[in-house]
Amino acid sequence: MIRKCLFPAAGYGTRFLPATKATPKEMLPVLTKPLIQYGVEEALEAGITTMAIVTGRGKRAIEDHFDISYELEHQIKGTSKEPLLDEIRALITQCTFSYTRQIEMKGLGHAILTGETLIGSEPFAVILADDLCDNSHSTINATENATRSEKGILSQMIDIYKKYRCSIVAIEEVPMEETHKYGVIAGKLIDGTANTYRVTDMVEKPNPEDAPTNMAIIGRYILTPDIFDILRNTQPGKGGEIQITDALLQQAKEGRVIAYRFKGRRFDCGSVDGFVEATNYFYGKRQEGKTQ
Ligand code: UTP
Repeated sequence: MIRKCLFPAAGYGTRFLPATKATPKEMLPVLTKPLIQYGVEEALEAGITTMAIVTGRGKRAIEDHFDISYELEHQIKGTSKEPLLDEIRALITQCTFSYTRQIEMKGLGHAILTGETLIGSEPFAVILADDLCDNSHSTINATENATRSEKGILSQMIDIYKKYRCSIVAIEEVPMEETHKYGVIAGKLIDGTANTYRVTDMVEKPNPEDAPTNMAIIGRYILTPDIFDILRNTQPGKGGEIQITDALLQQAKEGRVIAYRFKGRRFDCGSVDGFVEATNYFYGKRQEGKTQ
């Protein structure tokens, strides 16, 4: 139903300078896996195998990561290190990866529009890899596997899409003083059990006093393809960038955007604090797994 996932990955990642001077932000590792690999795994878990990545200058390492390194494979073949490539090898086998470049970094909306050539005219998912999401739970039952996998965030969103067949945004409540970092929605609760709202308004990075609520959009979307035409006609907004929030507002005015309060955890790995938090969280889980 949703066959393709778009990864806008062309941003400069200035908050991580100098690390991001020659290394894409999406390639920064949380433990041993780069951020974008977590994103691809989440998409695959949701049944998506076509990965479409919007890159930019200096981002070639992403393409190399999702490819075979024969020399390396040869070097570690038959050693204890060989299994370390198992996960990435499995991804490369199961998924296809295609790329297009955003020539000028004119914002997230512009990056998504740049991806049109890879998506075509079908509904699609969007993952911002620097928002790292997890919904797997450790279990104390030693007879089970160390971590029991619950539905990933994108997978949950696809279930919502199946019901409403319109654009879906994942939301999370944030402290009011942090609304200036996010697109913020207002909406009418339509299903308290499923945590879904019909969006009535959206504001990009509002100051707390202008924010309609504290419900912030995080880096997971399902978009209907008419978003491309809307983006083509969207003028630069906040920060002089073409904002996906402004384009989504057009759909929301027609009642065609659902916000979903997802189950699970999300880390803002575009910020140093969030990145450290994610690292500690995944390290804790890994240690727990080892002791079970
Ligand atoms: P951010 O707002 O985090 O910007 O982009 P950034 O450039 O990556 O990081 P900072 O703020 O300079 O540290 C949100 C997402 O949108 C993508 C980014 O790659 C990131 O996944 N993006 C943003 C693009 O692909 N192109 C753009 O022009 C802007």
